Amino acid sequence: MRALLKKPPPAVTALLLQFAAFVLTLLSAGLVGLQPPPLAFALLCGLLAMTFSRLVGLAGWWLPIQLLFAPALVLMLALNIPPEFSLAAFLILLAVYWSTFRTQVPLYLSSDKVWHALEALLPSPTSGGGTGGEGKPNFRFIDLGSGLGGVLTHLARVRPDGRYSGVESAPLPFLWGWLRVKLGGYRNCSVRWGSLWNCDLAQYDVVFAYLSPVPMERLWRKARAEMRPGTVFISSTFAVPEQSPRETVQVDDLHRSTLLVWRM
Ligand SMILES: C[S@@+](CC[C@H](N)C(=O)[O-])C[C@H]1O[C@@H](n2cnc3c(N)ncnc32)[C@H](O)[C@@H]1O
Repeated sequence: MRALLKKPPPAVTALLLQFAAFVLTLLSAGLVGLQPPPLAFALLCGLLAMTFSRLVGLAGWWLPIQLLFAPALVLMLALNIPPEFSLAAFLILLAVYWSTFRTQVPLYLSSDKVWHALEALLPSPTSGGGTGGEGKPNFRFIDLGSGLGGVLTHLARVRPDGRYSGVESAPLPFLWGWLRVKLGGYRNCSVRWGSLWNCDLAQYDVVFAYLSPVPMERLWRKARAEMRPGTVFISSTFAVPEQSPRETVQVDDLHRSTLLVWRM
């Protein structure tokens, strides 16, 4: 709550600015005795919201959103879409994106080429630790923000000597990943619903994260504080400010993904 008061996330700022633009447009129209048609009123709100957003320094891609938000609302209302439909769409989006407005880490998926590139970064089957004797895994891997569980189930299939964990905060991706693990019969794999910030990284030999630029500095501090010497931290695509990786792996996929690898 204190963090919210200090510096609200961009989505909250954008919403507050929409509200301010609405109030200001309403007051101004009242003062000059104007009653513009709804679409013109909404366009005025949009123009003001966009100007405010530029003034407070929201990223450039927010500006068209801020301009078009109120006009789009008016146009949608004119379509007379049943409210149940809008509610259902809202609930589905909420279940998929959950706290993205705060974390600034939305759901998007690693390509299967990234899954394959990760195989080469796992501890070799013959090196160190147990080799499955007495049910002990050779290594432990965690996907922080495991999405639909694709990374985990792929690695669990091709490297059954490891133990794979995922943590996911958004309900629908979590449920999808959980079902994928259960229905696929992956005994060496589990996914739990929760926040990556509550995971103890000391338990893992390989920590994988595909998040966004926003949490990387904080995640690096957590990894440095908790991960054991010699263990491996991998970030897909997003760099850690001022920390050069020990190795980078360029992946030839649609997003030109890069795996940044640190040995702790
Ligand atoms: C870019 S997706 C990556 C999905 C998956 N790891 C992959 O590589 O395909 C990031 C995921 O992290 C989840 N996420 C974001 N913040 C989180 C947090 N604090 N704790 C747990 N999961 C989080 C999002 O809901 C999203 O599913």
